[in-house]
Amino acid sequence: MQAFRADIFHSPERGRIERIPDALLSVGDDGAILSVAPCPDTAPPDLVDLRAHGVLIPGLVDLHIHAPQFPQLGTALDVPLEEWLFRYTFPLEARYADLDFATRVYDALVRRLLANGTTTAVYFATIHGPASLRLAETCLALGQRALVGRVAMDHPEGCPEYYRDADPETAIRDTADFIDAVRALPGNSLVEPVVTPRFIPGCTDEALKGLGRLAAETGAPVQTHCSESDWEHTHVLDRCGMSDTHALDHFGLLTRRTVLAHSGFIDGVDMDLIRARGSGVAHCPLSNSYFAGAAFPLRRALEKSVRVGLGTDISGGPSDFLLDVARNAVTASRMLESGVDPDRPAADRGRPGSRIDFRDAFWLATTGGADVLDLPVGFFAEGRQFDAVLIRPPEPALQPMSDDNLLQQILMCAQPADIQRTWVAGREV
Ligand code: GUN
Ligand code: FE
Repeated sequence: MQAFRADIFHSPERGRIERIPDALLSVGDDGAILSVAPCPDTAPPDLVDLRAHGVLIPGLVDLHIHAPQFPQLGTALDVPLEEWLFRYTFPLEARYADLDFATRVYDALVRRLLANGTTTAVYFATIHGPASLRLAETCLALGQRALVGRVAMDHPEGCPEYYRDADPETAIRDTADFIDAVRALPGNSLVEPVVTPRFIPGCTDEALKGLGRLAAETGAPVQTHCSESDWEHTHVLDRCGMSDTHALDHFGLLTRRTVLAHSGFIDGVDMDLIRARGSGVAHCPLSNSYFAGAAFPLRRALEKSVRVGLGTDISGGPSDFLLDVARNAVTASRMLESGVDPDRPAADRGRPGSRIDFRDAFWLATTGGADVLDLPVGFFAEGRQFDAVLIRPPEPALQPMSDDNLLQQILMCAQPADIQRTWVAGREV
């Protein structure tokens, strides 16, 4: 048992922030929170008092990360998605046939993300079984809660010859083997394997169908890219005669445990189907600025009760800090609302009613992401896992601040260096 005394901020429901300025939080040996309540006058003697070092917020949940792309973070964003894949990204990912390279990169990445407060991470790895397993082992060894996918991509036109699965059978069999290997890791209660067809343009129909079947048989979650850009969205409409969302459903890949990255071009009918299946969206606003050609209609999705969380999309988005993504979700929603072309009259420049605020963004980075994954994290309550971040407010109180403004300043301005300590499942990492 551990007990913490802390100034807590969390958002159990979207739009509502709760602060408990002097909370007593006790955590069991399995990492589950036993109780959280205002600290009584006679506090137990053996508690850890965190109040002098910052506020305690739930651990951040990053729903979309390409682990092998970490070496090119912040670079290579000068061309459209389809060109970026072939010119920069596939050549880099092909290098993970080298297990030593993979070991070095994955160790550095997981350490960085934990230092940045990302306590739950959803990863695409590469097509290489051993390197993908190394990523899962690294998360487990360093104590990060993670979902890890060995990427399936077998389409002879959508993938280069030097970096693709030889055929649909290989894509499916290697995915099945990976699921077994991750589930067999000794002492593993933190890392789950994910069925990961890269995206429809990179996979044959046979592979997509087989992976849908595999997800059903194994109960494993699914992740893929959905309606990401004009090019990708149109490609799928031409090839499948329907949107990504409907095509993925047709292949059995739209499940209660599916994470759809981007989804910028989904329409109202797609949203209804995603909601009906219980799938979720990884909103990646920073990446969308470079690759999508449009802003994800986030507010509309939330109002339709589509489950949504946030993703860095390393390295399609040039930041490994989820709070950067959270503030960019606010910015992107404001740009969508106002529109961006000054030559157009204000009245028809944007899409009214599109904005979200810092409360929504904080919820998306914590509870929203947890909800997409059906994981018992994201806020502090009895029975949920103690995944938490101690964060120092970026400016010492230069003027009196309301609770709302204090959290808003943290959300909008905090830097990775402001993160003091991080816990996953009750264990400090
Ligand atoms: N679509 C297919 N592969 C990728 C990828 O690696 N990153 C992004 N952003 N989109 C993709
Ligand atoms: Fe991506």
